[in-house]
Amino acid sequence: MTAEVGVIGTGVMGSNLARNLARNLAARSGARVAVYDRDVDRAQALAVEHPDAEFLVASSPADLASKLSGPRVAILMVNAGAATDSAISDLVEVFEPGDVIVDGGNSLFTDTIARGEAVRQAGIEFVGVGISGGEVGALEGPSMMVGGTESAWSRLRPILEPIAARAATGDARAESSDGNGAPADRAQIDQESCIAHVGTDGAGHFVKMIHNGIEYADMQLIAEAFALLRSRLGLTPSEIAEVFREWNRGELESYLIEITAEVLDHTDAATGKPFVDVIADSAGAKGTGGWTVKTGLDLGVPVATIAEAVSARSLSSVSVLRSSGTALDGPSSTTSADDDAAATSAPVDRDTVIETVRQALFTGKILAYVQGFHEIAAGAQEYGWKTELGEVARIWRAGCIIRARFLDRITEAFDADPNLSSLLADPYFQDSLNAGQQALRDTVADAASAGVPIPALASALSYFDGIRTSRSSAALVQGQRDFFGSHTYGRADRAGTFHTLWSGDRSEVQL
Ligand code: 6PG
Repeated sequence: MTAEVGVIGTGVMGSNLARNLARNLAARSGARVAVYDRDVDRAQALAVEHPDAEFLVASSPADLASKLSGPRVAILMVNAGAATDSAISDLVEVFEPGDVIVDGGNSLFTDTIARGEAVRQAGIEFVGVGISGGEVGALEGPSMMVGGTESAWSRLRPILEPIAARAATGDARAESSDGNGAPADRAQIDQESCIAHVGTDGAGHFVKMIHNGIEYADMQLIAEAFALLRSRLGLTPSEIAEVFREWNRGELESYLIEITAEVLDHTDAATGKPFVDVIADSAGAKGTGGWTVKTGLDLGVPVATIAEAVSARSLSSVSVLRSSGTALDGPSSTTSADDDAAATSAPVDRDTVIETVRQALFTGKILAYVQGFHEIAAGAQEYGWKTELGEVARIWRAGCIIRARFLDRITEAFDADPNLSSLLADPYFQDSLNAGQQALRDTVADAASAGVPIPALASALSYFDGIRTSRSSAALVQGQRDFFGSHTYGRADRAGTFHTLWSGDRSEVQL
């Protein structure tokens, strides 16, 4: 008895992905899944806990290789970094040319490129797959962003496509055989599966990295909306949960808004206080948001809102900085139950503030996506990937953490014009930004006056105005650069490269 695919690493993500694979393979072809973990007992325990999955438990990498039908496919679900490297070298020892190693972790895409090159020396395919959706997604259907060669994708597609999340399309609903949104045929299923080959080598992990960068921005924008509603209106967390539930019925509908309402409505059992008030206010990060920002800097792509989201987490955790902050002056803002009463004294209209913040959040969110998609396009160009942006939006519509109604609009924008240079060039997004910019402006101004930190919203507004401005202050920066470093400049009125003799007679020379 051999297995169609092996899963290495039986932590929560690995176990759930293995169970998802087992369920789907068994239903389609009766094929089995092999599992291997350096902690063999853990893999055994998984098999005992889920006898229906009929896992083949391997006792070593060599045993795993012997249990897999060829060309072999093994999916690594281990921690990014050293654990991934060591699992790869174990497999390279026992795999043969034509076999495929898949890294399903959150690896840095440049590591994936380097690992792919090394593994290819042994004739083995290496594919980085970005898998989003957390534990539940791994079990019930994640969104998957696949890199690697076309031939590896052909081998992987029949295994991974059936376990991916599915997003119903208008077409699928219209053509459905049962009228309930069930796909009419196989081609339709392919269209709906939230999985795509987004480019060669590290493209899958690159696109997943940007997904996470957008996730950071989205979460921060939502957190800022919460802080504003609380500070400006004195609403309690559970009242704000209700506001978010209302928002989730409109254009902001998304998984993150939905879970935010759940978190805000939760009461701490030990104290009876709102849960959000007892969580320490210092946010963690595993690094993918920071990678998005660093890569954006390397590519020359402005991702200011994502950068502010990453910095906001860092700032929240620098206790030395925050303890000095208690001595600094400014309006006091409220973010806890103790201050709620004080906040209500502000003479503001509740419904107006809620609607303004809603529009500001939606506008900021569009701008964060504009930045993320810009970075994907720039990465694809830099690394020679044929990444289709519409395809990326399509596979983010279900299964992943940033899934949102709004992604249908992005998909439509790229369907209407596959060569769209930026989301900013799409009429729907132009109209939405024009409709929301005043609310974003009012919200940022109000927050600044009230002393509520809203770095992501503020950066989104500056990004928006930076793009809009007909003449930017960069002209002065060029003048400064030329003054101290002879870095030269262009002129607005004629072509060429120029330098002013600053330490001489200040005449201009053309180079
Ligand atoms: C997903 C998530 C997942 C995880 C990240 C971010 O798509 O399923 O993005 O990959 O949440 O590790 O975690 P941090 O917030 O800890 O960086």
